[in-house]
Amino acid sequence: MASVRLESVVKKFGKVIAVNNVSLEVKDGEFFILLGPSGCGKTTTLRLIAGLEYPDSGRIYIDDKDVTFLEPKDRDVAMVFQNYALYPHMTVFQNIAFPLLLKRKKLGLTKEDIKKRVLEVARLLRIEELLHRKPGQLSGGQQQRVALARALIRRPKVWLMDEPLSNLDALLRLAMRAELKRLQKELGITTIYVTHDQAEALSMADRIAVMNKGKVIQVGTPDEVYLKPKHVFVGTFIGAPPMNVIECRIEEQDGKYLLQCPGFTREIPQEIMASKLVKTKEIILGIRPEFIEVIESPAPDTIKGKILVVEPLGSETILNININPENEETIIKVKLPKITKKFRPGETVFLKIDWSKVSIFDKTTGFLLE
Ligand SMILES: Nc1ncnc2c1ncn2[C@@H]1O[C@H](COP(=O)(O)OP(=O)(O)O)[C@@H](O)[C@H]1O
Ligand SMILES: [Mg+2]
Repeated sequence: MASVRLESVVKKFGKVIAVNNVSLEVKDGEFFILLGPSGCGKTTTLRLIAGLEYPDSGRIYIDDKDVTFLEPKDRDVAMVFQNYALYPHMTVFQNIAFPLLLKRKKLGLTKEDIKKRVLEVARLLRIEELLHRKPGQLSGGQQQRVALARALIRRPKVWLMDEPLSNLDALLRLAMRAELKRLQKELGITTIYVTHDQAEALSMADRIAVMNKGKVIQVGTPDEVYLKPKHVFVGTFIGAPPMNVIECRIEEQDGKYLLQCPGFTREIPQEIMASKLVKTKEIILGIRPEFIEVIESPAPDTIKGKILVVEPLGSETILNININPENEETIIKVKLPKITKKFRPGETVFLKIDWSKVSIFDKTTGFLLE
Protein backbone atom coordinates (compact mmCIF):
# COMPACT_ATOMS: atom_id res chain seq x y z
CA MET A 1 0.00 0.00 0.00
CA ALA A 2 1.17 3.49 -0.68
CA SER A 3 0.50 7.18 -0.75
CA VAL A 4 1.40 9.34 -3.76
CA ARG A 5 2.39 12.98 -3.65
CA LEU A 6 3.02 15.49 -6.42
CA GLU A 7 4.70 18.76 -5.55
CA SER A 8 4.51 21.66 -8.02
CA VAL A 9 4.92 19.38 -11.02
CA VAL A 10 5.39 21.05 -14.41
CA LYS A 11 5.61 19.24 -17.75
CA LYS A 12 5.99 21.05 -21.06
CA PHE A 13 5.98 19.75 -24.61
CA GLY A 14 7.58 22.55 -26.59
CA LYS A 15 5.33 25.55 -26.00
CA VAL A 16 2.46 23.49 -24.58
CA ILE A 17 2.33 23.38 -20.78
CA ALA A 18 0.61 20.01 -20.40
CA VAL A 19 0.87 19.96 -16.60
CA ASN A 20 1.04 23.35 -14.97
CA ASN A 21 2.25 23.37 -11.39
CA VAL A 22 0.20 20.46 -10.10
CA SER A 23 0.31 19.49 -6.44
CA LEU A 24 -1.70 16.53 -5.21
CA GLU A 25 -1.77 14.16 -2.29
CA VAL A 26 -3.32 10.75 -2.81
CA LYS A 27 -3.86 8.80 0.38
CA ASP A 28 -3.01 5.20 1.06
CA GLY A 29 -5.77 2.95 -0.28
CA GLU A 30 -7.64 5.78 -1.91
CA PHE A 31 -9.55 5.63 -5.21
CA PHE A 32 -8.48 8.98 -6.61
CA ILE A 33 -9.80 10.31 -9.91
CA LEU A 34 -8.33 12.91 -12.26
CA LEU A 35 -11.31 14.40 -14.10
CA GLY A 36 -11.29 16.98 -16.86
CA PRO A 37 -11.92 17.64 -20.55
CA SER A 38 -9.77 16.26 -23.34
CA GLY A 39 -6.32 17.84 -23.46
CA CYS A 40 -6.32 19.11 -19.85
CA GLY A 41 -3.26 17.08 -18.87
CA LYS A 42 -4.71 13.97 -17.22
CA THR A 43 -2.76 11.38 -19.18
CA THR A 44 0.48 13.33 -18.87
CA THR A 45 0.02 13.54 -15.10
CA LEU A 46 -0.50 9.79 -14.94
CA ARG A 47 2.53 9.11 -17.16
CA LEU A 48 4.65 11.28 -14.88
CA ILE A 49 3.57 9.18 -11.90
CA ALA A 50 4.29 6.00 -13.86
CA GLY A 51 7.74 7.22 -14.87
CA LEU A 52 6.95 7.25 -18.59
CA GLU A 53 7.68 10.98 -18.61
CA TYR A 54 9.92 13.11 -16.43
CA PRO A 55 8.81 16.56 -15.22
CA ASP A 56 10.54 19.81 -16.11
CA SER A 57 10.26 20.78 -12.47
CA GLY A 58 8.63 19.56 -9.27
CA ARG A 59 8.87 16.27 -7.37
CA ILE A 60 6.89 13.05 -7.19
CA TYR A 61 6.86 10.84 -4.12
CA ILE A 62 5.51 7.36 -3.51
CA ASP A 63 5.38 6.65 0.21
CA ASP A 64 7.72 9.56 0.92
CA LYS A 65 10.31 8.11 -1.42
CA ASP A 66 11.35 10.54 -4.14
CA VAL A 67 10.66 8.68 -7.40
CA THR A 68 10.71 11.72 -9.69
CA PHE A 69 13.43 10.34 -11.97
CA LEU A 70 13.17 6.62 -11.26
CA GLU A 71 12.44 4.25 -14.11
CA PRO A 72 8.95 2.75 -14.30
CA LYS A 73 10.16 -0.69 -13.22
CA ASP A 74 11.58 0.74 -10.00
CA ARG A 75 8.32 2.36 -8.90
CA ASP A 76 6.09 -0.68 -8.33
CA VAL A 77 3.13 0.78 -10.21
CA ALA A 78 0.90 -0.86 -12.82
CA MET A 79 -0.61 1.21 -15.59
CA VAL A 80 -3.64 0.49 -17.75
CA PHE A 81 -3.54 2.51 -20.93
CA GLN A 82 -6.33 4.04 -22.92
CA ASN A 83 -4.94 2.30 -26.00
CA TYR A 84 -4.33 -1.23 -24.88
CA ALA A 85 -1.64 -3.33 -26.45
CA LEU A 86 -1.98 -7.09 -26.20
CA TYR A 87 0.51 -9.68 -27.42
CA PRO A 88 -1.19 -10.98 -30.58
CA HIS A 89 0.51 -14.40 -30.58
CA MET A 90 -0.51 -15.23 -27.01
CA THR A 91 -3.87 -16.45 -25.79
CA VAL A 92 -5.96 -14.29 -23.50
CA PHE A 93 -4.88 -16.50 -20.58
CA GLN A 94 -1.21 -16.04 -21.43
CA ASN A 95 -1.66 -12.30 -21.94
CA ILE A 96 -3.21 -11.91 -18.51
CA ALA A 97 -0.74 -14.22 -16.79
CA PHE A 98 2.27 -12.65 -18.46
CA PRO A 99 3.18 -10.01 -15.83
CA LEU A 100 3.13 -12.69 -13.12
CA LEU A 101 5.00 -15.30 -15.17
CA LEU A 102 7.79 -12.79 -15.69
CA LYS A 103 8.30 -12.40 -11.98
CA ARG A 104 7.06 -15.77 -10.80
CA LYS A 105 10.22 -16.68 -8.85
CA LYS A 106 10.61 -13.24 -7.33
CA LEU A 107 6.98 -13.20 -6.24
CA GLY A 108 7.17 -16.77 -4.96
CA LEU A 109 4.12 -17.88 -6.95
CA THR A 110 3.37 -21.40 -8.18
CA LYS A 111 1.75 -22.02 -11.56
CA GLU A 112 -1.41 -22.93 -9.65
CA ASP A 113 -1.37 -19.57 -7.83
CA ILE A 114 -1.10 -17.79 -11.14
CA LYS A 115 -3.95 -19.79 -12.66
CA LYS A 116 -6.11 -18.94 -9.67
CA ARG A 117 -5.37 -15.24 -10.02
CA VAL A 118 -6.08 -15.28 -13.76
CA LEU A 119 -9.43 -16.97 -13.22
CA GLU A 120 -10.28 -14.51 -10.48
CA VAL A 121 -9.75 -11.39 -12.60
CA ALA A 122 -11.28 -13.08 -15.66
CA ARG A 123 -14.43 -13.73 -13.67
CA LEU A 124 -14.46 -10.15 -12.42
CA LEU A 125 -14.18 -8.81 -15.97
CA ARG A 126 -16.50 -11.41 -17.46
CA ILE A 127 -14.01 -12.85 -19.92
CA GLU A 128 -13.78 -16.41 -18.54
CA GLU A 129 -15.08 -17.84 -21.81
CA LEU A 130 -12.41 -16.05 -23.84
CA LEU A 131 -9.29 -17.33 -22.08
CA HIS A 132 -8.25 -19.68 -24.89
CA ARG A 133 -8.72 -17.12 -27.69
CA LYS A 134 -6.14 -14.87 -29.32
CA PRO A 135 -6.58 -11.03 -29.22
CA GLY A 136 -7.38 -11.01 -32.96
CA GLN A 137 -10.55 -12.97 -32.21
CA LEU A 138 -11.87 -10.39 -29.74
CA SER A 139 -13.99 -7.25 -30.04
CA GLY A 140 -12.55 -3.89 -28.98
CA GLY A 141 -14.41 -3.99 -25.68
CA GLN A 142 -13.20 -7.53 -24.97
CA GLN A 143 -9.61 -6.54 -25.73
CA GLN A 144 -9.97 -3.64 -23.34
CA ARG A 145 -11.11 -5.98 -20.60
CA VAL A 146 -8.20 -8.32 -21.20
CA ALA A 147 -5.82 -5.37 -20.92
CA LEU A 148 -7.51 -4.35 -17.71
CA ALA A 149 -7.25 -7.90 -16.36
CA ARG A 150 -3.54 -7.95 -17.16
CA ALA A 151 -3.05 -4.82 -15.07
CA LEU A 152 -5.31 -5.96 -12.25
CA ILE A 153 -3.54 -9.28 -11.87
CA ARG A 154 -0.57 -7.47 -10.46
CA ARG A 155 -0.66 -6.28 -6.90
CA PRO A 156 1.56 -3.20 -7.10
CA LYS A 157 1.71 -0.33 -4.67
CA VAL A 158 -0.28 1.84 -7.05
CA TRP A 159 -2.68 1.19 -9.91
CA LEU A 160 -2.74 3.85 -12.61
CA MET A 161 -5.67 3.68 -15.00
CA ASP A 162 -6.22 5.85 -18.04
CA GLU A 163 -9.88 5.75 -19.13
CA PRO A 164 -9.91 1.94 -18.88
CA LEU A 165 -13.65 1.62 -19.44
CA SER A 166 -13.99 4.08 -22.31
CA ASN A 167 -14.25 1.49 -25.09
CA LEU A 168 -16.95 -0.57 -23.42
CA ASP A 169 -20.62 -0.29 -24.26
CA ALA A 170 -22.80 1.63 -21.82
CA LEU A 171 -24.26 -1.26 -19.82
CA LEU A 172 -20.96 -3.06 -19.40
CA ARG A 173 -19.29 0.19 -18.40
CA LEU A 174 -21.80 0.72 -15.61
CA ALA A 175 -21.32 -2.82 -14.33
CA MET A 176 -17.51 -2.55 -14.51
CA ARG A 177 -17.48 0.67 -12.51
CA ALA A 178 -18.97 -1.08 -9.52
CA GLU A 179 -16.82 -4.23 -9.93
CA LEU A 180 -13.60 -2.28 -10.26
CA LYS A 181 -14.37 -0.17 -7.25
CA ARG A 182 -15.23 -3.30 -5.24
CA LEU A 183 -11.96 -5.02 -6.16
CA GLN A 184 -9.97 -1.88 -5.40
CA LYS A 185 -11.53 -1.58 -1.95
CA GLU A 186 -11.14 -5.29 -1.28
CA LEU A 187 -7.41 -5.21 -2.08
CA GLY A 188 -6.85 -1.68 -0.77
CA ILE A 189 -4.52 -0.79 -3.64
CA THR A 190 -4.06 2.97 -4.01
CA THR A 191 -5.56 3.85 -7.38
CA ILE A 192 -5.25 6.92 -9.58
CA TYR A 193 -7.85 6.79 -12.31
CA VAL A 194 -8.24 9.17 -15.23
CA THR A 195 -11.55 9.94 -16.90
CA HIS A 196 -13.33 12.73 -18.78
CA ASP A 197 -16.68 11.24 -17.74
CA GLN A 198 -18.06 13.18 -14.80
CA ALA A 199 -20.68 10.56 -13.95
CA GLU A 200 -17.98 7.89 -13.79
CA ALA A 201 -15.90 10.10 -11.51
CA LEU A 202 -18.80 10.89 -9.19
CA SER A 203 -19.79 7.24 -8.92
CA MET A 204 -16.34 5.71 -8.35
CA ALA A 205 -14.06 8.18 -6.62
CA ASP A 206 -13.22 8.64 -2.99
CA ARG A 207 -11.89 12.01 -4.09
CA ILE A 208 -11.73 13.83 -7.41
CA ALA A 209 -9.19 16.32 -8.74
CA VAL A 210 -10.92 18.44 -11.37
CA MET A 211 -8.40 19.61 -13.97
CA ASN A 212 -8.55 22.25 -16.69
CA LYS A 213 -5.76 23.47 -18.97
CA GLY A 214 -3.01 21.71 -17.08
CA LYS A 215 -4.11 22.89 -13.67
CA VAL A 216 -5.92 21.30 -10.78
CA ILE A 217 -8.92 23.52 -10.11
CA GLN A 218 -10.40 21.69 -7.13
CA VAL A 219 -9.83 18.54 -5.12
CA GLY A 220 -12.68 17.12 -3.10
CA THR A 221 -15.10 14.29 -2.47
CA PRO A 222 -17.81 13.79 -5.10
CA ASP A 223 -20.24 15.66 -2.84
CA GLU A 224 -17.87 18.57 -2.40
CA VAL A 225 -17.10 19.10 -6.07
CA TYR A 226 -20.78 18.67 -6.97
CA LEU A 227 -22.35 20.85 -4.29
CA LYS A 228 -19.56 23.31 -3.53
CA PRO A 229 -17.70 23.98 -6.78
CA LYS A 230 -14.78 26.34 -6.20
CA HIS A 231 -14.86 27.61 -9.77
CA VAL A 232 -17.58 28.06 -12.36
CA PHE A 233 -15.68 25.57 -14.54
CA VAL A 234 -16.20 22.81 -11.96
CA GLY A 235 -19.92 23.59 -11.70
CA THR A 236 -20.44 23.45 -15.42
CA PHE A 237 -18.19 20.44 -16.07
CA ILE A 238 -19.83 18.29 -13.40
CA GLY A 239 -23.50 17.39 -13.40
CA ALA A 240 -25.96 16.33 -16.11
CA PRO A 241 -27.37 18.70 -17.04
CA PRO A 242 -24.64 20.94 -15.66
CA MET A 243 -25.05 23.84 -13.28
CA ASN A 244 -27.08 26.74 -14.70
CA VAL A 245 -25.04 29.90 -14.93
CA ILE A 246 -26.55 33.36 -15.07
CA GLU A 247 -24.42 36.44 -15.49
CA CYS A 248 -25.69 39.26 -13.29
CA ARG A 249 -24.72 42.72 -12.07
CA ILE A 250 -24.92 44.14 -8.58
CA GLU A 251 -26.36 47.67 -8.53
CA GLU A 252 -26.77 49.98 -5.58
CA GLN A 253 -30.06 51.86 -5.55
CA ASP A 254 -31.38 54.00 -2.67
CA GLY A 255 -29.04 52.25 -0.23
CA LYS A 256 -30.23 48.82 -1.33
CA TYR A 257 -28.34 46.31 -3.36
CA LEU A 258 -30.08 44.87 -6.37
CA LEU A 259 -29.30 41.75 -8.31
CA GLN A 260 -29.79 42.51 -12.01
CA CYS A 261 -29.99 39.41 -14.12
CA PRO A 262 -31.25 38.75 -17.64
CA GLY A 263 -35.02 38.55 -17.29
CA PHE A 264 -35.28 39.54 -13.64
CA THR A 265 -34.15 42.08 -11.07
CA ARG A 266 -34.55 41.62 -7.35
CA GLU A 267 -33.11 42.59 -4.02
CA ILE A 268 -30.20 40.43 -3.01
CA PRO A 269 -31.75 37.41 -1.29
CA GLN A 270 -31.02 37.07 2.42
CA GLU A 271 -29.57 33.62 1.87
CA ILE A 272 -26.69 35.07 -0.10
CA MET A 273 -24.20 36.90 2.00
CA ALA A 274 -24.40 40.47 0.79
CA SER A 275 -20.94 41.42 2.06
CA LYS A 276 -19.16 39.25 -0.50
CA LEU A 277 -21.29 40.62 -3.30
CA VAL A 278 -21.10 44.35 -2.84
CA LYS A 279 -17.38 44.45 -3.55
CA THR A 280 -17.89 42.66 -6.86
CA LYS A 281 -20.01 44.25 -9.52
CA GLU A 282 -20.11 41.45 -12.04
CA ILE A 283 -21.02 37.99 -10.83
CA ILE A 284 -22.17 34.62 -12.08
CA LEU A 285 -24.97 32.82 -10.29
CA GLY A 286 -24.61 29.04 -10.35
CA ILE A 287 -27.72 26.97 -9.71
CA ARG A 288 -28.02 23.21 -9.98
CA PRO A 289 -31.09 22.15 -12.03
CA GLU A 290 -32.59 20.23 -9.11
CA PHE A 291 -32.66 23.24 -6.78
CA ILE A 292 -35.31 25.09 -8.76
CA GLU A 293 -39.00 24.56 -8.20
CA VAL A 294 -41.45 25.02 -11.06
CA ILE A 295 -44.82 26.52 -10.14
CA GLU A 296 -47.75 26.81 -12.53
CA SER A 297 -49.29 30.05 -11.27
CA PRO A 298 -47.69 33.33 -10.16
CA ALA A 299 -46.21 33.17 -6.67
CA PRO A 300 -44.15 35.58 -4.60
CA ASP A 301 -40.42 35.56 -5.11
CA THR A 302 -40.47 33.66 -8.38
CA ILE A 303 -39.04 34.26 -11.85
CA LYS A 304 -41.36 34.13 -14.82
CA GLY A 305 -40.37 31.88 -17.68
CA LYS A 306 -41.61 30.01 -20.70
CA ILE A 307 -41.06 26.31 -21.28
CA LEU A 308 -39.22 25.70 -24.54
CA VAL A 309 -38.43 22.01 -24.37
CA VAL A 310 -39.52 19.09 -22.18
CA GLU A 311 -37.08 16.16 -22.03
CA PRO A 312 -38.51 13.07 -20.36
CA LEU A 313 -35.58 10.84 -19.34
CA GLY A 314 -37.29 7.88 -17.74
CA SER A 315 -36.73 8.52 -14.05
CA GLU A 316 -36.55 12.30 -14.39
CA THR A 317 -37.69 15.17 -16.57
CA ILE A 318 -35.58 18.09 -17.75
CA LEU A 319 -37.34 21.34 -18.58
CA ASN A 320 -35.64 24.00 -20.70
CA ILE A 321 -37.09 27.31 -19.64
CA ASN A 322 -36.48 30.71 -21.16
CA ILE A 323 -36.46 33.42 -18.48
CA ASN A 324 -35.71 36.40 -20.69
CA PRO A 325 -38.32 37.36 -23.32
CA GLU A 326 -35.70 39.57 -24.98
CA ASN A 327 -33.32 36.70 -25.59
CA GLU A 328 -34.35 33.15 -26.44
CA GLU A 329 -30.89 31.93 -25.48
CA THR A 330 -31.29 32.70 -21.78
CA ILE A 331 -32.26 29.21 -20.77
CA ILE A 332 -32.52 27.64 -17.35
CA LYS A 333 -32.59 23.89 -17.08
CA VAL A 334 -34.68 22.40 -14.32
CA LYS A 335 -34.53 18.78 -13.23
CA LEU A 336 -37.71 17.22 -11.89
CA PRO A 337 -37.03 13.95 -10.07
CA LYS A 338 -39.82 12.05 -11.78
CA ILE A 339 -41.50 11.54 -15.09
CA THR A 340 -44.32 14.02 -15.45
CA LYS A 341 -46.81 15.07 -18.07
CA LYS A 342 -47.67 18.21 -16.13
CA PHE A 343 -45.61 20.59 -18.26
CA ARG A 344 -45.78 21.31 -21.99
CA PRO A 345 -43.72 23.48 -24.33
CA GLY A 346 -45.11 26.99 -24.69
CA GLU A 347 -46.49 27.15 -21.14
CA THR A 348 -45.68 30.03 -18.84
CA VAL A 349 -44.29 28.95 -15.47
CA PHE A 350 -42.77 30.52 -12.37
CA LEU A 351 -39.42 29.45 -11.01
CA LYS A 352 -38.56 29.45 -7.35
CA ILE A 353 -34.85 29.25 -6.72
CA ASP A 354 -33.50 27.73 -3.52
CA TRP A 355 -31.12 30.59 -2.80
CA SER A 356 -29.41 28.67 -0.01
CA LYS A 357 -28.04 26.30 -2.68
CA VAL A 358 -26.80 28.95 -5.10
CA SER A 359 -23.07 29.43 -5.78
CA ILE A 360 -21.78 32.90 -6.58
CA PHE A 361 -18.71 33.30 -8.73
CA ASP A 362 -16.63 36.32 -9.60
CA LYS A 363 -17.31 36.90 -13.29
CA THR A 364 -13.75 38.09 -13.94
CA THR A 365 -11.87 35.18 -12.35
CA GLY A 366 -14.59 32.51 -12.32
CA PHE A 367 -13.73 31.66 -8.72
CA LEU A 368 -16.32 31.20 -5.97
CA LEU A 369 -16.91 34.25 -3.79
CA GLU A 370 -16.72 33.10 -0.19
N1 LIG B 1 4.09 13.65 -26.40
C1 LIG B 1 3.50 14.84 -26.57
N2 LIG B 1 4.03 15.74 -27.41
C2 LIG B 1 3.45 16.95 -27.57
N3 LIG B 1 2.36 17.37 -26.92
C3 LIG B 1 1.77 16.50 -26.07
C4 LIG B 1 2.31 15.19 -25.86
N4 LIG B 1 1.53 14.56 -24.95
C5 LIG B 1 0.56 15.44 -24.64
N5 LIG B 1 0.68 16.59 -25.30
C6 LIG B 1 -0.18 17.78 -25.17
O1 LIG B 1 -0.31 18.07 -23.79
C7 LIG B 1 -1.64 18.44 -23.47
C8 LIG B 1 -2.22 17.50 -22.44
O2 LIG B 1 -2.40 16.23 -23.03
P1 LIG B 1 -2.93 14.97 -22.24
O3 LIG B 1 -2.17 14.83 -20.96
O4 LIG B 1 -2.90 13.82 -23.15
O5 LIG B 1 -4.43 15.39 -21.93
P2 LIG B 1 -5.70 14.49 -21.53
O6 LIG B 1 -5.25 13.13 -21.16
O7 LIG B 1 -6.33 15.23 -20.38
O8 LIG B 1 -6.61 14.50 -22.72
C9 LIG B 1 -2.40 18.47 -24.78
O9 LIG B 1 -2.37 19.78 -25.28
C10 LIG B 1 -1.59 17.54 -25.65
O10 LIG B 1 -1.73 17.87 -27.02
MG1 LIG C 1 -5.82 11.28 -22.01
